[in-house]
Amino acid sequence: MTGFNTKLIYGKGLNQVHDNQTGAVNVPIYQATTYAFKQVAGKHKYDYSRSLNPTREYLEDQIAALEDAQHGYAFASGSAAIHAVFTLFHPGDHIVVSRNIYGGTFRLIHDYLEPLGIEFSAVDTQDLAAVEAAIQPQTKAIYFETIDNPFLKVTSVKQIAAIAKRHHVLTIVDNTFLTPYLQQALTLGADVVIHSATKYLGGHSDVIAGLVVTNDDEIGKQLEFVQNAVGGILAPEDCTLVIRGIKTLSVRLDRHLQNAQKILDYLKTKSDQIERIYYPGQAGDASDAVAKTELKGYGGVITFALKPNVDAEKFVNSPRLIWLAVSLGSVESLIELPYFMTHAELPVAERRKVGITPQLVRLSVGLEDPDDLIADLEQAFAVAEQ
Ligand SMILES: Cc1ncc(COP(=O)(O)O)c(C=O)c1O
Repeated sequence: MTGFNTKLIYGKGLNQVHDNQTGAVNVPIYQATTYAFKQVAGKHKYDYSRSLNPTREYLEDQIAALEDAQHGYAFASGSAAIHAVFTLFHPGDHIVVSRNIYGGTFRLIHDYLEPLGIEFSAVDTQDLAAVEAAIQPQTKAIYFETIDNPFLKVTSVKQIAAIAKRHHVLTIVDNTFLTPYLQQALTLGADVVIHSATKYLGGHSDVIAGLVVTNDDEIGKQLEFVQNAVGGILAPEDCTLVIRGIKTLSVRLDRHLQNAQKILDYLKTKSDQIERIYYPGQAGDASDAVAKTELKGYGGVITFALKPNVDAEKFVNSPRLIWLAVSLGSVESLIELPYFMTHAELPVAERRKVGITPQLVRLSVGLEDPDDLIADLEQAFAVAEQ
């Protein structure tokens, strides 16, 4: 069983559902904290649900199958998954990190990991020379988002992994925006891939979840240790929501891509109101070439900078169909101002430095009829133009 879509539905294999004496086609929600031993002696695969739960195990195997990975791990959020991966490092270790990262990851790095003594250098990961120059003797990893947020520039997993291998450091990627459907980051050379499954994998704005995959047994052991020792694991009901979301990942993403293309075409007609559109394949630079070779599609998020003649707050306050909300990757379209919302954790100077201005809009294109979305944006422009 090798096809990606078949794996979406069945994970590692048809007969993977444990204890299934009923013929139920779905994985049961194992709402159990503890598991009876037949006797004291012997090995017991399941003993307590913090260490292993069969519903979680199914999801972990499902994401591992989709990524062609040996090991998969499910955490209570994308942030918990990122934290778990950072426990691989110790005080004095140094990590090269992408300059444009999710605000919550920025906060985790600067307000939690740096005070613990882990050091970071932020670089533009599209600039391979800068990445290489940032590597120090105590560097242990290069960490980046495959499509950065909010400018959606693509960093080459292949090229960064080649640099990392040369320097014997790990390549860690957050592939939330692409998912394994649009990019197979382990195959491209990453050592660890993280997903906020809250986004496209879950896909319905109803579950917060994080997943990690790796082929490295030692890293796997550490992640399993963190699940058990720290306890930030995903609950069985939430696992079920992610398992269900994953089953329709490819059909949803195909429609996200189609809708995003239609919205993109529409936004390009708004040159009187829009200064610049950010979407992979649009920048006319090296990141576009990477997008064409390493990605199967560019995702459903579009960012654009409004011209001064459009009141950005009025613009995002005005849609009647599109929700004014953070997050992305769901069936419903969401719009936001990164400066005030998703990236508010970044100090103002940092936001300005990376180009996140109050006029910047991020739109996560959902699965509604694109004509309805375009009509909604059109009326928002009419309200906001001054
Ligand atoms: C790229 C990226 N990584 C990680 C996270 C954190 O995930 P979660 O909200 O599931 O903790 C987010 C959340 O928006 C994100 O956009």
